[in-house]
Amino acid sequence: MSKLVTILNGPNLNLLGKREPEIYGHATLDDVARDCAAVATEFGLRCELLQSNIEGELVNMIQACRETSAGIIINPAAYTHTSVAILDALNTFEGPVLEIHISNVHHREEFRHHSFVSKRANASIIGMGVEGYALCMRHMGSLLA
Ligand code: DQA
Repeated sequence: MSKLVTILNGPNLNLLGKREPEIYGHATLDDVARDCAAVATEFGLRCELLQSNIEGELVNMIQACRETSAGIIINPAAYTHTSVAILDALNTFEGPVLEIHISNVHHREEFRHHSFVSKRANASIIGMGVEGYALCMRHMGSLLA
């Protein structure tokens, strides 16, 4: 069975495509799932895309990845800037973790400049739009080869 990569998305990303399109664009999470699946296939990987608006659910999903997944791609959304619990959960995961932000958080409000998740992430892609997810999957492909 091929290795699974889990793509985790935090709060409000269920509204991707409808939410502040001038910042996040018009593509939806379904579009992201489709693009990532195509790249995963190139590398002989499988992927699943999950989203929750609830911090504890994201912690549960990360814990589940310990049993199911070879790597995690995560856009923790607003929890990036606040959640020690998500950082702690990611620290229990042994595989590679890639962090993605659609917008360039460093060009935005000061409170978006700090990421707890960056302490754990092997690498981060920031400000490349939704294309960043597929770029993360490509890098995950080389890390898991
Ligand atoms: C985001 C940036 C965060 O600051 C914000 O809270 C989000 C999305 C991004 O992908 O650009 O919800 O993670």
